[in-house]
Amino acid sequence: MGYSVAVAGATGNVGREMLNILAERSFPADEVIALASRRSLGTEVSYGDRTLKVKALEHFDFSGTDICLMSAGGSVSREWSPRIVAAGAVVIDNSSAWRYDSDVPLIVPEVNADAITSFRKRGIIANPNCSTAQLVVALKPLHDKAKIKRVVVATYQSVSGAGKDGMDELDRQTKAIYSLQDIQLNKFPKRIAFNIIPQIDVFMEDGYTKEEWKMVVETKKILDPKIKLTATCVRVPVFISHSEAVNVEFENPITPDEARDILRKAPGCMVIDSHQPGGYVTPYEAAGEDATYISRIREDATVENGLAMWIVSDNLRKGAALNAIQIAECLINRKLITAKQKAA
Ligand SMILES: NC(=O)c1ccc[n+]([C@@H]2O[C@H](COP(=O)([O-])OP(=O)(O)OC[C@H]3O[C@@H](n4cnc5c(N)ncnc54)[C@H](OP(=O)(O)O)[C@@H]3O)[C@@H](O)[C@H]2O)c1
Repeated sequence: MGYSVAVAGATGNVGREMLNILAERSFPADEVIALASRRSLGTEVSYGDRTLKVKALEHFDFSGTDICLMSAGGSVSREWSPRIVAAGAVVIDNSSAWRYDSDVPLIVPEVNADAITSFRKRGIIANPNCSTAQLVVALKPLHDKAKIKRVVVATYQSVSGAGKDGMDELDRQTKAIYSLQDIQLNKFPKRIAFNIIPQIDVFMEDGYTKEEWKMVVETKKILDPKIKLTATCVRVPVFISHSEAVNVEFENPITPDEARDILRKAPGCMVIDSHQPGGYVTPYEAAGEDATYISRIREDATVENGLAMWIVSDNLRKGAALNAIQIAECLINRKLITAKQKAA
């Protein structure tokens, strides 16, 4: 018997990708339900070669649902996730609403799948921020080998990380520039077309942004609380895939060749790293792919045991939808959930 899976936020960037990935991976679902706000009631979304009519989350009865993939933002999740759990479903949430709750596991299956068992406390499992997900996939195997002390990361994050409104803004501004029209700012604090913006999410008291803070706290929760991390998060005019320039300081020696060998064998990682023009991965090439790509691995000679590298992944897939579905697969494979009996 298959599972009943609800996708909440099915008309959004992440929700649409969730439906694609459920179909691509032949997820064992008897039923997939597309949910969004009342605004989208009756609109259609694709699920493999099928079309689903979108229902309103607020009117949906979750008593027959086994898994709810939540991708409708933090406030919707805070309000609805406990109610969905009370109706008997497990919630896998993409927003930041539950990530820092000590009773909610924050999971990247390649890194800390074993932590998933604590999901029963609240019935919710959190998916990390897109920049953290790809970072920890690449850092975990290196941490196992040489123990990471400190990470310095600068991100180059695509506009799809800011939802469908972010993509629309880059599209509109680019067209306005080519047709000599005025530029409108709606989603981003400055022009994003042919520009970059060193601010993602709001500023905190210490001058860092919330996105940068999330990378610190989430890396500690998923990988190791002892790792020190500092981030500068930057929005760039790319539609899909986030890139990261990363410097890592280790406790023990590790050479670039050793790192390449380790990462080649690591789950979810793909090494593309040759020292010639184009011998690395760019965001355009990573879009639509599942892997976390690692390129430009080299020694960082400014510290004792240092490496520098370039990490790229599709933020809508590994950074969100794919990771959520891998979590659902993990629940099923470990027999942590069973499908509810459906009425005939
Ligand atoms: N984009 C990424 O790379 C990424 C990565 C990790 C996590 N996330 C998180 O994933 C979530 C979704 O992101 P996104 O990029 O897909 O955003 P998005 O493109 O703006 O889509 C938002 C979705 O939420 C739905 N929604 C909004 N208000 C709702 C309500 N009151 N009731 C039910 N549904 C509602 C929208 O439905 P309507 O179309 O009806 O408005 C839409 O389907 C966010 O929490 C985001 O932080 C995103």
